[in-house]
Amino acid sequence: MKRDEAVPEILAALVPPGERERLGPAWTAAVARVRLLESHAEQSEKMAGLGRLAAGIVHELNNPLVAVTMYAESLYAKWGLGAGDPADLEKISGIREAGLRIQKLTRDLTAYARPSSGTPSSLELGALLDQAVLICKPALKEIDAVVQRDFAPTPPVQGSRSALTQVFINLITNAAQALAKGGAIRLALHAEEGRVLVTVADDGEGMTAEVQSHLFEPFFTTRPGRGVGLGLATVKQIVERHGATVAVESAPGKGTRVTVALPVGGPATPVPR
Ligand SMILES: Nc1ncnc2c1ncn2[C@@H]1O[C@H](COP(=O)(O)OP(=O)(O)OP(=O)(O)O)[C@@H](O)[C@H]1O
Ligand SMILES: [Mg+2]
Repeated sequence: MKRDEAVPEILAALVPPGERERLGPAWTAAVARVRLLESHAEQSEKMAGLGRLAAGIVHELNNPLVAVTMYAESLYAKWGLGAGDPADLEKISGIREAGLRIQKLTRDLTAYARPSSGTPSSLELGALLDQAVLICKPALKEIDAVVQRDFAPTPPVQGSRSALTQVFINLITNAAQALAKGGAIRLALHAEEGRVLVTVADDGEGMTAEVQSHLFEPFFTTRPGRGVGLGLATVKQIVERHGATVAVESAPGKGTRVTVALPVGGPATPVPR
């Protein structure tokens, strides 16, 4: 039968042809669902292949890039002391900034394609958040951001320290980039129904519904030339690996609140990779 030729193998093996008629719409729905899952699996396979390719290219790019930025840095320092033409100083500054931007792209691509593994361990999220703030200090200082902490005692969660620190660095960086000078970022931590909830809220520019609908897509950015658009895609990937969820509430001009909810006791299945 033509229709049955397209039946996914796993369903064909489980449900005999006679039974299919009896199931009626439930059978049609099951076939559609399994086909969808199969196409997702195929897509994931392709993405994993692309990820490996990207990681390889990025790795090869990195050494020449370090040379470009280091030499540019050294000439910039020398010419900045008056040893060169001011026009050359401007050019070398441009080379240095372009090099640093490509370096950021390569770093972000690597983080997305190969999120830091690290053995899962028991993590105290308050300390982890403080560490992320410390790493973001230069960006926060640049805009005189005020960081408010509202940490309730919470049970530890299971996860990769480096990957989860990366999640909060990305969220705090986004918040900082949305803020006007002197704006505030509020970090909150509390436990609720077997989960630990971390919120990163800012009173920055907020987002339209249109922007929100694309947030987690790789390479989606409203800051072309400055952002790569991998920050939130990486967050989503890491969060899902931890059996956790991420939710965003935002309104233009009102600010943004991102909530990450991690299961106490870790994900149902061990954190892969
Ligand atoms: N807290 C926030 N406030 C306002 N807009 C935000 C916020 N967080 C994310 N966005 C919007 O979502 C987009 C995607 O964010 P994402 O972190 O993925 O990429 P990016 O910050 O543009 O670049 P990258 O993080 O790779 O440097 C941003 O360009 C911005 O428009
Ligand atoms: Mg970002």
